[in-house]
Amino acid sequence: MRTALTELVGVRHPVVQTGMGWVAGPRLVSATARAGALGILASATMTPERLREAVREVKSRTDEPFGVNLRADAGDARERVRIIIDEGVKVASFALAPSKDLIAELKDAGVVVIPSIGARRHAEKVAAWGADAVVVQGGEGGGHTGDVATTVLLPQVVDAVDIPVIAAGGFHDGRGLVAALAYGAAGIAMGTRFLLTSDSTVPDAVKARYLAAGVKDVTVTTAVDGLPHRMLRTEMVASLERAGRVRALAQAVRRAAGFRRISGLGWSRMARDGLAMRHGRDLSWSQVLLAANAPMLLKASMVDGRTDLGVMASGQVAGVIEDLPGCAELVERVMAEAHAALGTVTRALAPSPEAPPRPSPPPGDGAAVR
Ligand SMILES: Cc1cc2nc3c(=O)[nH]c(=O)nc-3n(C[C@H](O)[C@H](O)[C@H](O)COP(=O)(O)O)c2cc1C
Repeated sequence: MRTALTELVGVRHPVVQTGMGWVAGPRLVSATARAGALGILASATMTPERLREAVREVKSRTDEPFGVNLRADAGDARERVRIIIDEGVKVASFALAPSKDLIAELKDAGVVVIPSIGARRHAEKVAAWGADAVVVQGGEGGGHTGDVATTVLLPQVVDAVDIPVIAAGGFHDGRGLVAALAYGAAGIAMGTRFLLTSDSTVPDAVKARYLAAGVKDVTVTTAVDGLPHRMLRTEMVASLERAGRVRALAQAVRRAAGFRRISGLGWSRMARDGLAMRHGRDLSWSQVLLAANAPMLLKASMVDGRTDLGVMASGQVAGVIEDLPGCAELVERVMAEAHAALGTVTRALAPSPEAPPRPSPPPGDGAAVR
């Protein structure tokens, strides 16, 4: 299947595995790349040194193209961009709209720039600044998310911009890929579906919680970091929601200290990141402080396997996923389902040679076709 996405980044299939903190590491990304889809390394939860190592690890496992996801508002975004350029990474993916200069710097170096956005005006902005494509995430998607469903947001963005649009939020199979293409997208991006593969390093106990979840077990809460965040509904989430402001803040400071150690960021760098995060958004300092919570809570489950203490970011789609295929099997299956779905649509459109001609209704019997 050839689309504007496969042409733009040189992958065999119009399928993207998104950058997920603590989840999208070298193993998942290289397995995705070998399967012919675009894998994206999540770098916001890595130090710059670890990012360079992770990029080299992927390159040692595959020659296929892959990407790196980073936060445009991180104080060290430029350093990370430098690593992407130096190491010859094909795609830069951004969790928030990157600045015009950052886009220009990457494009000048031949890197394909694909920001993720959750609203039409953001897509228009990054398209005007020269982004090569956008990932559009509807509200059913996992992690930080908006409240407009993919079925409404996707056609809205497709109509608004002239660059390729990749649909995200709620996709898990080939029918979804065909639906996205019908809306005018150039492919699909999936997070939760790739988290639930045998190639993802997420501990088995955590994967089991996702597999057991129904669609009603996925919720959106602001209790983790002050921003709407889609995740599995767990006791931990309920307790964060019950905790008063003061207790939540005290916990946030403790966890922020832990994240500071792991990420290698000093307090001053974290404060600068906090300032950047507040910029242009209506966030209080306590919300910024709470934001340092998210990476630690995510790590507790995605790395340490603590289903009791961690947060399990998830799309609603976890409720319909029931297995853990390898990436190669998953991508093959999605493409086979997509071809089958296209066949069904094509047959529905073509007149069947065996079907007897439909009798026309007698005039004036009131059975007018509206
Ligand atoms: C566990 C998890 C962690 C995530 N971390 C990030 C991240 O670090 N950066 C980012 O841009 N998006 C992140 N996301 C969002 C995904 O990249 C993706 O846009 C989303 O999962 C798509 O929706 P889906 O889960 O329905 O496929 C995360 C999602 C999940 C489920």
